[in-house]
Amino acid sequence: MRLIFLDCTFAYMNKKTTNELRESVLDLRCAPIECVRIGFIGLGVRAKRAVSRMMHIEGCEIVALCDLVQENIEEASAIITEHGAKAPVTFGDADGWRNLCEMQGIDLVYICTDWASHADIAVYAMQNGKHVATEVPAATTVADCWRLVDTAEATRKHCIMLENCCYDEFELCTINMAQQGVFGEIIHCEGSYLHDLRERIATNDNGERKWSNWQVEFMNSHNGNPYPTHGLGPIALAMNIHRGDKMKSIVSVSSRRVGDSDGLNGTMNSSLITTEKGNTILVQHCVALPRPYSRSFLVSGTEGFAQKYPIQHFAFAQDSDNALTGEACEKILEKYRHPYVAEYKERGTELCGRRWIDYAMDCRLIHCLRNGLPLDMNVYDAALWSCLVELTDISANNGGAPVEIPDFTRGR
Ligand SMILES: NC(=O)c1ccc[n+]([C@@H]2O[C@H](COP(=O)([O-])OP(=O)(O)OC[C@H]3O[C@@H](n4cnc5c(N)ncnc54)[C@H](O)[C@@H]3O)[C@@H](O)[C@H]2O)c1
Repeated sequence: MRLIFLDCTFAYMNKKTTNELRESVLDLRCAPIECVRIGFIGLGVRAKRAVSRMMHIEGCEIVALCDLVQENIEEASAIITEHGAKAPVTFGDADGWRNLCEMQGIDLVYICTDWASHADIAVYAMQNGKHVATEVPAATTVADCWRLVDTAEATRKHCIMLENCCYDEFELCTINMAQQGVFGEIIHCEGSYLHDLRERIATNDNGERKWSNWQVEFMNSHNGNPYPTHGLGPIALAMNIHRGDKMKSIVSVSSRRVGDSDGLNGTMNSSLITTEKGNTILVQHCVALPRPYSRSFLVSGTEGFAQKYPIQHFAFAQDSDNALTGEACEKILEKYRHPYVAEYKERGTELCGRRWIDYAMDCRLIHCLRNGLPLDMNVYDAALWSCLVELTDISANNGGAPVEIPDFTRGR
């Protein structure tokens, strides 16, 4: 079967000479910011939690808020003022996001809108001199992923995708172990988003849903994996993608559709990525079948194995049938505990319960900006992990044909 090449990748490859002159932002360091002034765009369910978290993080303040819904602006403003902080500037009309991006006195634009608007806002924010943190996925098309990369390189601004699953304890520990070579050479990994959201997707007698309509509408009009980054992010870090290996091609297939929607998309999407070194990654998505929650998170190497769901366990080459669960697993988690867990889990759990990973993610973001450090994830990660939204769609719509995955680093 022939590999499908993307028109836009060809266009960018042709631009390679110009782009080679442009310095990479792989390990971008920017001037330290003593107190990070944040503007939030999109103040729905996710953002209000983030606004609350930021109230407990040293060295940042929320100076501006923007949403199309006045009630959301008022609720988020109230969170800020109830903590004794100064009332933020607010923007509520259709052009509000542009006005916020243009505003002086903002260092970081934190984007929590629907998927389709992330890239436009991120690009405009960087063009107006702001760093960007965007919710997942950072973009939904390959062309928009390139726009993020191009703009970050041209403006020398950070653009991080807020992939919180990279900060979960088992994942961090496994990444640590992978970097120390405990699994030997990693050959295959799996990462998924398998979540029974039938109740949120279903409409009631009035045609209303518990879940945002934009999310269901996007899924109904696409046939691939609309939400690949939770599964893929920590796997990509464990496999050293962009740090020693790179993704080369993907094949993706979708099952038939079940349920009452007449949308195009299949219920279960499975995609297989091949890396340049010849390793493989399985990424799956399903939100419409009754099954236990799972992000899979499986790492398989020549010396060892880790899997998070349904029960966290490790196994090693000398006795690979012996799945180390329970206490044995805890011992390994303790031995290879990631420093972020030691630093952020306790306080994060006090503040956010099981969502302490979001607290860890935001603390790290603010810490790096305050200290002029490279961020934990860069714009190339954001682009690569997000581009699978479109690539899985292309492959699934072509009977599972292999599709080239662009190298957003342009070989660097
Ligand atoms: N990482 C995670 O675990 C996690 C969990 C939930 C949601 N998310 C992500 O967070 C993002 C937001 O999800 P949500 O559940 O909060 O959605 P939501 O629909 O509750 O909120 C989106 C908000 O953006 C506002 N908005 C949309 N377009 C706008 C514009 N042009 N200008 C200003 N405001 C605008 C809407 O009015 C709404 O209030 C999504 O990208 C989603 O995938 C991530």
